[in-house]
Amino acid sequence: MKRARGKAVGRPAPKPRGSKRSLGAGRAATPGARAIASCANVLDFEAIARSRLERAFYDYYAGGAEDERTLAANRGAFAEVFLRPRVLVDVSRIQTAGPVLGSQVSMPVLVAPTAFHRLAHPDGELATARAAGAARTLMVASTIATYTIEEIARAATAPLWFQLYVYKDRGLARNLIQRAEKAGYRALCLTVDTPHLGSRERDFRNRFTLPAGIEMRNLAEAGIDASRLGDSFRSYVHRQLDCSLTWDAVEWLRGETKLPLVLKGIIAAEDAVLAVERGVDGIIVSNHGGRQLDGTEATLHALPRVVDAVAGRAEVFMDGGVRRGTDVVKALALGARAVLVGRPCLWGLAAAGEEGVLRVLEMFRQELMLAMALCGCPDLGAIDRSLIASA
Ligand code: FNR
Repeated sequence: MKRARGKAVGRPAPKPRGSKRSLGAGRAATPGARAIASCANVLDFEAIARSRLERAFYDYYAGGAEDERTLAANRGAFAEVFLRPRVLVDVSRIQTAGPVLGSQVSMPVLVAPTAFHRLAHPDGELATARAAGAARTLMVASTIATYTIEEIARAATAPLWFQLYVYKDRGLARNLIQRAEKAGYRALCLTVDTPHLGSRERDFRNRFTLPAGIEMRNLAEAGIDASRLGDSFRSYVHRQLDCSLTWDAVEWLRGETKLPLVLKGIIAAEDAVLAVERGVDGIIVSNHGGRQLDGTEATLHALPRVVDAVAGRAEVFMDGGVRRGTDVVKALALGARAVLVGRPCLWGLAAAGEEGVLRVLEMFRQELMLAMALCGCPDLGAIDRSLIASA
């Protein structure tokens, strides 16, 4: 890890630095902006988001597949792992910055790709990208964003990765890849856990669909009528996504782009090995936030096995249930280069747009710095498996 000047812990959280362009004078005084001032932690944002969102949209964001056991397990796993802090280490300066796949970020907390940000706020992914930029961390933009690849790139001031779903029409995937390259995205992130959409029963009950005026802009840009999903989001995905995708697709992608390639959605160590054998640069240990196969094990538990199998041949990341600075430390101690956070950013976005997302990210930073200090880890290099208490 590159060492830069560290920061002292315990300084007051920085004032959100939302750009005047997107926040506007009036927006700062909205009930949402006032409400987030009372949030003590990232979890508090969910209640505000819930009160501000339409029920079907809240459920789309919050929900998981079937009985939501994996959704709960992701979060629960962090409560099952305990830390073994070291003492009498100089922690007067804490350094959280480091590289992810060659891009420098200010902390190992990245923004996971999530769909349809405009359901949370009219500025949608633009607000999220601006907040990630203000926090100097990386955002992964979803294929099914509600602003285009190019619009998000123009709003961003920090590195971006592009998350790719491969459609039956490979020409569409090629179109998306070429646009992401041209717009300056730093990596391609192929999501591999979604040959079909998981069974999200909240969405079924709510008959979830996109409201008029909000569309999957990347697909619209590529000439596909994505303004209406027809009967449901589920049937749309079933019609479009290529569920015949195999490891050949990874080799195909390798030939399509010079960008670093990240596979998102790996749980089994055997798959991690197959991925590194095909030269991927990064692996995200993920179960899609419990939205795909219900009953999949928690990502925090899967992480060390993947890290061991990869043995340094690729960078390993994880997501799922990360809500605390101590969660970040646990994931890093078990070998993750960085974590990604999905729903917390959506709650911040729903609560107060760009300012809300930035506040969420800054809370992660403050909690991470405190956790590192209390663990006796002044920099990321000091975080290793010896910090984990074995049962
Ligand atoms: C997602 N996720 C996701 N992943 C992906 O590769 N492409 C996508 O478009 C989406 N869309 C999406 C929408 C919503 C509402 C959620 C909650 C999640 C999964 C996401 O990238 C990530 O894996 C999880 O969100 C991580 O779990 P947490 O942080 O939400 O607990």
